[in-house]
Amino acid sequence: TDISLVDDYQRRFEYLRLSLTEQCNFRCRYCLPDGYQSDRTHQFLTLSEIRQVINAFSELGVKKIRLTGGEPTLRRDFTDIVALISEYNSIKDIALTTNGSRLYQNIVKWQDAGLTSLNVSIDSFSPHQFALITGEDKFHQVIQGIDKALEVGITKVKINTVLMKGINDDLSQCLPWVKEHNVDLRFIELMETGEGQSYFNRYHMSGEKIEQKLIEQGWQLMVKDGLSGPAKVYQHADYLGRVGLIMPYSKGFCQSCNRLRISAIGKLHYCLFGDSAIDLRDLLNSDEQKTLLQKRVLNSLKIKPETHLLHQHRAGITQNLSFIGG
Ligand code: GTP
Ligand code: 5AD
Ligand code: SF4
Repeated sequence: TDISLVDDYQRRFEYLRLSLTEQCNFRCRYCLPDGYQSDRTHQFLTLSEIRQVINAFSELGVKKIRLTGGEPTLRRDFTDIVALISEYNSIKDIALTTNGSRLYQNIVKWQDAGLTSLNVSIDSFSPHQFALITGEDKFHQVIQGIDKALEVGITKVKINTVLMKGINDDLSQCLPWVKEHNVDLRFIELMETGEGQSYFNRYHMSGEKIEQKLIEQGWQLMVKDGLSGPAKVYQHADYLGRVGLIMPYSKGFCQSCNRLRISAIGKLHYCLFGDSAIDLRDLLNSDEQKTLLQKRVLNSLKIKPETHLLHQHRAGITQNLSFIGG
């Protein structure tokens, strides 16, 4: 049909990342080193506004929703949000990106509500270093949560590791764990944010170095399927899990971009980088606004850039990722 989300570069957007809050209970050094400042008095999208978003986007062909933040599970209505989305038959995948701190206690409840897949951040497999990076001594708690999720049958589990020079660039730290767990562990290249420039300069390293080591150790690149995004994923016959790389600074990264983002305050972001975003909130008040909302979204796709501008000049993310939802 002509009302689907395809842009001028033949990219199809069936995947929506919806940020539920800017708030977080961790203080990751590259993201919120001083913790969430509660003087930011933004009102985040309400359950009823979220319903309007899902109503409109599911009709536009969105098949996968990722709930992100901040830490999305800090919302008291988090389970209700999952349950709401699972009422839409056209949405096949309800995914969560989380720091894992509330996983162990809640995963069964979330699964019952309809959650299908899970991305959990683990920046180090050394509990001590985990605490230094996140500000929270919760490594074991997070691992317990992941084990539980796998045990109760969440089959799509990914681990996010933000690659930091000299901190976690040693593959031998994580590979033993990947060997025994059916997960995708992805190294994410550190991205430059407005407040994180000195951290970026000190710790950024290219994922290509990890990629090289994997290839030397016999890992093989997997073929991408239609719904997979910009991550490159490798497999190895001796390992239950896989290792992936997200390298936004590498050439061609944006060609497989398949996602749109809505921030916790209701702005549609075309790209993680740069400030181009349009406010949708004035059209989230009633069912009658749905057509207008869909028109605004479709028209705005023309603005989505072919690629981010990181190669041309220094134009990182002006805010930290917890405000855009990664
Ligand atoms: P799935 O493919 O659904 O697993 O999603 P994902 O890997 O994008 O999800 P997740 O929330 O785990 O994202 C991990 C991080 O990778 C994001 O927070 C970003 O830091 C980075 N990332 C993901 N997608 C993009 C993208 O389109 N552009 C850039 N620059 N970075 C991205
Ligand atoms: N660079 C790369 N990844 C980041 N994340 C947060 N901030 C950054 C950054 N500056 C990651 C988190 C989490 C995911 C949602 O985004 O570690 O895994
Ligand atoms: Fe919180 Fe995620 Fe940012 Fe860490 S990276 S401070 S867990 S939002």
